[in-house]
Amino acid sequence: MRKPLIVGNWKMNGSLDDNKALLDGFKAGIGNVKVAEVAVCAPYIYIPDVAEQLTGTPIAWGGQNMSIEAKGAFTGEISTAMLLDFSCKYVIIGHSERRTLYGEDDALVAQKFAVAHKAGLIPILCIGETLDEREKAVTEEVVARQIKAVIDEVGIASLGDGVIAYEPVWAIGTGKTASPDQAQDVHAFIRGQLAAHDKAVADKIRIQYGGSMNAGNAKELLAMQDIDGGLIGGASLKVEDFLAICTAAG
Ligand code: 13P
Repeated sequence: MRKPLIVGNWKMNGSLDDNKALLDGFKAGIGNVKVAEVAVCAPYIYIPDVAEQLTGTPIAWGGQNMSIEAKGAFTGEISTAMLLDFSCKYVIIGHSERRTLYGEDDALVAQKFAVAHKAGLIPILCIGETLDEREKAVTEEVVARQIKAVIDEVGIASLGDGVIAYEPVWAIGTGKTASPDQAQDVHAFIRGQLAAHDKAVADKIRIQYGGSMNAGNAKELLAMQDIDGGLIGGASLKVEDFLAICTAAG
């Protein structure tokens, strides 16, 4: 039985005051979340403050990105050791915004996965097709390629220690959610790709859905057999909405 995992990806949002209000709200409501594991991925600069506020609560935290380098002359970058200094549990890898806006390709994403895994962070590997790719009916080719790049780099067992987030790019921040059946089809395909390498890993790994998941559609999506949680953008910045998604997971 896979435990659902709900992660808030704050992206480049927040302030000290806003974060405090948000986290106070989460802490007040988290007692009603009986089944799901919950985490938030904050902008780097807020991670120490988030860590301080969430220590001793059931809510974990993580980064939204990381460098493959350990240290040195890499201006503006953050290493895995730095994330671990502030007890991050998770790190998002290969978000579509990193891939499209910052030129991260499959090879770099796979290297990031390897470095994060080796350091002891749990990588949340984001994959998913663009609208153009969906319209050309190449969704399966795209996600298969994105997964293969990581399996080739780290091996199936290491991939199994992470989390996959299926985020159709056309659904991110657009209010257009994949229907439960559309999402389930791709999740089942992803699990099948993994099962071709190792059935136990495929059965164990959590595959989150991401893309305009909200308080209104979470229950239906999370009820699908191969959807094991959510990676939540906009709705993770609202106390009631995020908590509603967490409780919808069980
Ligand atoms: P939205 O929930 O705002 O669509 O963002 C999804 C996402 O990109 C999470 O990583």
